[in-house]
Amino acid sequence: MALISQSHAWQDLQAHQTQFSSSLRELFAANPQRFQQFSKTACGLTLDFSKNHLTPNTLKLLTALLETAEFTRLRQQFFSGDKINHTENRAALHIALRNQSNTPILVDGKDVMPEVNAVLAKMRAFTTAVHSGQWRGYTGKTIDTIVNIGIGGSDLGPAMVTRALRAYHQPRLRAFFVSNVDATHLGETLQQLDPETTLFVIASKTFTTQETMLNANSARQWFLQQTNGNESAIAQHFIALSTNTAKVTAFGINPDNMFVFWDWVGGRFSLWSAIGLPIMLMIGAEKFDELLGGAHAMDEHFYNAPLLDNLPVLIALIGVWYSSFWRAATQAVLPYDFTLELLPAYLQQLEMESLGKRVTRNGENVDYPTCPIIWGAAGNNGQHAFYQLLHQGTHLVPTDFIVAKNSQYPLENHQVATLSNAFAQSLVLMQGRTTTETEAALSANGMSGEALTFHAPHRVFAGNQPSNTLIYEKLTPAILGSLLALYEHKVFVQSVCWQLNPFDQWGVELGKQVANSLLTALEGGKNDFYDSSTQGLINYCLK
Ligand code: F6P
Repeated sequence: MALISQSHAWQDLQAHQTQFSSSLRELFAANPQRFQQFSKTACGLTLDFSKNHLTPNTLKLLTALLETAEFTRLRQQFFSGDKINHTENRAALHIALRNQSNTPILVDGKDVMPEVNAVLAKMRAFTTAVHSGQWRGYTGKTIDTIVNIGIGGSDLGPAMVTRALRAYHQPRLRAFFVSNVDATHLGETLQQLDPETTLFVIASKTFTTQETMLNANSARQWFLQQTNGNESAIAQHFIALSTNTAKVTAFGINPDNMFVFWDWVGGRFSLWSAIGLPIMLMIGAEKFDELLGGAHAMDEHFYNAPLLDNLPVLIALIGVWYSSFWRAATQAVLPYDFTLELLPAYLQQLEMESLGKRVTRNGENVDYPTCPIIWGAAGNNGQHAFYQLLHQGTHLVPTDFIVAKNSQYPLENHQVATLSNAFAQSLVLMQGRTTTETEAALSANGMSGEALTFHAPHRVFAGNQPSNTLIYEKLTPAILGSLLALYEHKVFVQSVCWQLNPFDQWGVELGKQVANSLLTALEGGKNDFYDSSTQGLINYCLK
């Protein structure tokens, strides 16, 4: 297929963008029903997308683009277990991990559901054993600390969900997530641990990732130092989550203490698999099932709902509209629910590792912008840091506000304060404040003459900054599952529009290879003599 930018659908959208003359404020003034017209609810999530530069015609053109890009056929392939990750010859079947309907899903003619269910059963049994105290440390004490060692998808998803669902934690357990190779991360964590009651969970799809293996080996070394070299104690304190049984065994972990998953689970889509074991340990098997259930409900919605009622489709198309047609280089994610403080980092991997690409599935260079830079921070903290730029800077920054109607903690006055801030920000970003309004406001405060002329321009807000608001009652495991699956499917829809394979990540490989050769040089071994900057830095460290 030719580049999508050659299609009529793409060109129609370009023309539509050029002719788009109404401001957001004007769109609202012209249509008091905008919220009703441009908001949809599914799986406990309401998406208000009315504060966007769009009309019914925009949506019509965007869905035409999706159809031109063969969305229905590709979604069908995705859900059927076809090897849509064609550069790695793999299916991408995270939907199978939460397929609570248990309908068969075939990969190479084999139903994956029995294996998925077997691993879930093993995870549940292990969780029960840890919670009941049947699984104990080497001195007979019960486990009270989980340390997940992993990075990327083997860290961000479990860490974010565990943080988000703190209200559901087993009171007796605490969790740490160690990812960075910088000794500070592991070093600071180890200082807080008791080897007798700690369970290390080594999470790595490949079991070859440099950072994870180094941290895992150092953790094992620390454990042996603390236990006077008690090798046999390792079995009770180290377990693995991986696809690579040979490497896990070579590390010294008994395959009985390994929880497997499969090559058709991408790292950034893996929190629903064995990689989710730390989540299950922290919130219990029942709540983990609810998390899976929420994701499954969103999968069904995504598969069945008409395009214009389909939350992942809508949010994805709006994103494509801004990235490719309005040339917005970034997109902010602003959760007004502190439990989701790690969501922006999680979405950075999900979206940027999936869609930060410049060649199509056929290997052709694209001639249009693809994934924006995803960034953000939780609620009011961002307001007091970077919102100035959103309000008065020069960049177009589409934003997702993610808002809980109710907090996990019923402290008087806090929730209305949170909601009022969230709604105020999206309102002001949309509406702005004109010069006339600014002057009127300043005059009302007693300013006039030269002072008014001087101060007014600094206090004008251009507005016209678009946003979505995703709002829900309260963050339960099911709501979180639906929310995360929504963003996963957003990624898929955008990959279709941009003709990308969202399931590989070759862009991270070269850095890994070069790091290995630099490691040798930094250890004083073979030095390939690099550019003068790199060599200068190596020399600085070798001195
Ligand atoms: O950074 C690249 C990457 O391959 C991610 O896609 C992945 O989530 C991460 O490394 C960790 O990989 P593994 O689980 O194999 O250790």
